[in-house]
Parts: sequence; structure tokens; C-alpha cells
Amino acid sequence: MIMIMLGAVLLGVAAACLVVLVPMGMAGWRLSRNVLFFSGAIFITMAVCVHLTPSFSSVSDYVTSVSSVAIIDRRSPCLDLVSRISWEVTPNASLINFNVTQNLSSSFDYYEKHWDWPKTQKVKACRIRKLSKHDASRRLNASWVVIAGDSQARLFTLSLLNLILGSDPQRMDSIRTALFKRHSNYSISVNEIGMKLDFVWAPYVSNLTHLMIDFKAKKSYPCVLVMGAGLWHMLHVNNASDYESVLRTLKGSVVSLFPFSTELAFKSPHLFWLGLPVLINGMLNTHDKRQQMSDAVWHDYDRSLTGSRLLRQTGGPLDLLDIPSLTWNCGAHCTYDGMHYDIAIYEAAVQLMLNFIIISRQRH
Ligand SMILES: *[C@@H]1O[C@H](CO)[C@@H](O)[C@H](O)[C@H]1NC(C)=O
Ligand SMILES: *[C@@H]1O[C@H](CO)[C@@H](O)[C@H](O)[C@H]1NC(C)=O
Ligand SMILES: *[C@@H]1O[C@H](CO)[C@@H](O)[C@H](O)[C@H]1NC(C)=O
Ligand SMILES: *[C@@H]1O[C@H](CO)[C@@H](O)[C@H](O)[C@H]1NC(C)=O
Ligand SMILES: *[C@@H]1O[C@H](CO)[C@@H](O)[C@H](O)[C@H]1NC(C)=O
Ligand SMILES: *[C@@H]1O[C@H](CO)[C@@H](O)[C@H](O)[C@H]1NC(C)=O
Ligand SMILES: *[C@@H]1O[C@H](CO)[C@@H](O)[C@H](O)[C@H]1NC(C)=O
Repeated sequence: MIMIMLGAVLLGVAAACLVVLVPMGMAGWRLSRNVLFFSGAIFITMAVCVHLTPSFSSVSDYVTSVSSVAIIDRRSPCLDLVSRISWEVTPNASLINFNVTQNLSSSFDYYEKHWDWPKTQKVKACRIRKLSKHDASRRLNASWVVIAGDSQARLFTLSLLNLILGSDPQRMDSIRTALFKRHSNYSISVNEIGMKLDFVWAPYVSNLTHLMIDFKAKKSYPCVLVMGAGLWHMLHVNNASDYESVLRTLKGSVVSLFPFSTELAFKSPHLFWLGLPVLINGMLNTHDKRQQMSDAVWHDYDRSLTGSRLLRQTGGPLDLLDIPSLTWNCGAHCTYDGMHYDIAIYEAAVQLMLNFIIISRQRH
């Protein structure tokens, strides 16, 4: 076993050299030794990350695929289909005596939310599907997952853990209590599948940038990283051009941390951005929120995200978990305070993430 691991690390180093040297040649050797060293270190971490994941048949498979995709980003067209889900929001038949006209918040409980992908041949051919607890556990076996951000990220964390541990309601209760401690981090090792998950409370983008710097200093990197922040900035700073500039800084730190993540479509860490939820202004629960978080400001912030080029669709390193479109399509009955949505939204986002991971790891 040790020999195999050692072999994996050596092959990882070999792979690292391949992917480091090829772009270096192209860049006219402008990369500093520091970058070179970093890339090596990252690749060893990745090799281990990847090696322990059962969806890989062998290390040699890994090496050949790494060298063949080192330069060109060959993204599967299936990835474009992942986010296209539709919602069905219907009255809960067991609540026939419910008075819907009373208020919008209470109607939240009245509606059942179901979602799915359209049943087209393409979706079927891409094998896009809702993953079971077992499938999800298999995919995340032996990975380190970090989710960092504001309350949306916390709800996302809850949904992910619920998928994996939901069959144990007592355990989920205690997880929920610990996870929802105000403004705190949360960490759990799911020993059954050797998964370590960290939730990092990071309400501002600058907190996320600090996290990247931490990773770099400690030279340890998660296999899956999900980030998202913006609502606090909107409420307390309320300056979309400042938001764009902090996002650019974040992008810079992500790119320097994972220098090949834009080229290397798979076998690299999976990086995601949780977009801003649609805000229903009339339902926001404080005067300040209603004042600062108008539709116009929301759109400015959304444009700032595009402008920062943080997302892969604009040439950046992160895949969008499209919370804006999920929340928009689910609609006003899916939120109780105009900002935090039904857990169904975050369950869907978790499934989108898992499908992104599976598809980006497949050979095309
Ligand atoms: C529902 O609630 C509204 C407002 O509270 C009230 O005017 C209406 O009579 C109620 N409808 C029924 C069927 O109870
Ligand atoms: C609206 O419904 C929520 C949830 O049932 C309840 O807590 C709240 O008091 C209601 N608001 C009004 C104005 O009736
Ligand atoms: C419908 O309402 C009942 C009674 O409140 C609840 O137990 C059930 O979970 C609801 N169904 C859905 C799908 O939300
Ligand atoms: C996780 O991986 C370990 C060893 O690699 C294996 O024994 C275990 O069955 C796997 N668990 C799941 C849920 O796939
Ligand atoms: C949460 O974790 C981050 C990153 O490790 C750290 O910088 C921060 O201080 C922690 N916050 C708390 C409240 O412990
Ligand atoms: C996040 O950043 C803000 C502003 O830079 C800072 O005031 C706050 O202490 C940071 N919070 C955490 C949890 O690191
Ligand atoms: C908004 O942020 C930008 C960039 O940080 C800054 O130049 C500008 O002065 C800020 N605007 C206001 C109104 O504070």
C-alpha cells in the first residue's frame, strides 16, 4: 500500500512537471521558481486528493489525462445543461384549509417545491441526475471539502450534510445546532467516508481572500471549495464597484493558489461560487435591508460579479452554482424573508455541484 502511495506521489510529481513545463515553455520561462515550486506542491496534494477518490480507475489514467488536457480547456457540453432545472411550486394538498391570502411568509409553508431537469435525451445522455446518499458519499469519499461564505453558504453546507447523513436525524439535529451558531466556523469529519468538511464563516469577500492566503501559507488545499459572499457587502458597504474590486482581488488569489485551474478542466480541485439569491424587497425584514438591497443594487452587484471575471463563463477559475436563477425560478413562495430560501434551493445547488464534479471528471 505504501509502495502504491509512493508510486502515486512520484507519478503525481511527474504529472506536475509535465504540466508545469509545457506552459512554462509557452510562457517563455517567465514563471518564477516560486510558482514552479508551488505548482509542484499543489499537484502532489491533488494527486493524493484524486488518487483516493474511487471514480479514478488508475494512476496512469490520471497521468495521461492530465498531460493531454494541460493546455486546452476541453469542457464537456454537458456542463451547460446542469444548471437548467425547472421548479414546480404547488399548494400542499394536505393543507387544504390554509388561508393563503393572510401573508406571503406563511404561504411559504403552504407550497411544496419540487425540481428536476427536463427529461430530454441530452440530459439522459449526459447522465445528469439527482445523486443518492450512497452516490454522493462515494464521490466525496476521502475528500476535504471547504464551504466558505455567508448564511447562504451555511444553508448549502446543511443541505450537503443532510444528503450524506440525513438518515440519522439525531446526528443532523446536533449538526444543525453547531452549524448555526452565530458567526462561527464549523468542522466535521464524516469518518464513514473519510470526508472532512469545513464551513468557514466569511461574510465578506475579503474574508474569502484571507482564506486563500491561509491555504497558501499552510500549503494545503481542499478538493472541493465552495465560496459565496455579497449580501453583507450590499447591506453594509453598498458599493457595487467596490464589490467588483474585492472580487477581482479574490480572483487573483484563487488563480495564484490554483494556477492551472482555468486550463485543467478536470482532475484539479473543484471550485464553485454561490451566486446571490434574488431578493424580494417587500419581504425583507428590516428597514435598512429594504433601503439598501433594492432590485437596482442587486443588478449592479450581479454585473460586478460578471465584471470581476471570477467565474469560468467569463474566463475565471470558479464554476457558478446558479443561485440567482434557482431562486428566480422558484419564486416568492420559496422564501420566508425575501433573502433566505427554502432548503429545496440549496438541495438543488448541492446536486448541481455534484453533477458538475462528476461531469468534469469524465473523459470526453
Ligand atoms: C383569509 O385571511 C384574510 C385576511 O386575514 C381574511 O380577510 C379572509 O376572510 C380569510 N379567508 C378565509 C376563507 O378564511
Ligand atoms: C406571517 O406568517 C408568519 C409565519 O406563519 C408569522 O410568523 C407572521 O406573524 C405572519 N405575519 C402576519 C403579519 O400575519
Ligand atoms: C405538506 O404539509 C404537511 C403538513 O404540514 C407536511 O407534513 C408535509 O411535509 C408537506 N409536504 C411537503 C412536500 O412539503
Ligand atoms: C470509502 O473508501 C473506503 C476506502 O477507500 C472504502 O472502504 C469505503 O467503503 C468507501 N465508502 C463509501 C461510502 O464509498
Ligand atoms: C474561521 O476560520 C478562518 C479560516 O481558518 C479563520 O481565519 C477565522 O478566524 C475563524 N473564525 C472563527 C470565528 O474562529
Ligand atoms: C471579515 O472581514 C471583515 C472586513 O474586512 C472583518 O471586519 C471581519 O472581522 C472578518 N470576519 C472574519 C470572520 O474573518
Ligand atoms: C465605491 O468604491 C470605489 C472603489 O473602491 C471607490 O472608488 C468609490 O469612492 C466608492 N464610492 C462611494 C460612494 O463610496
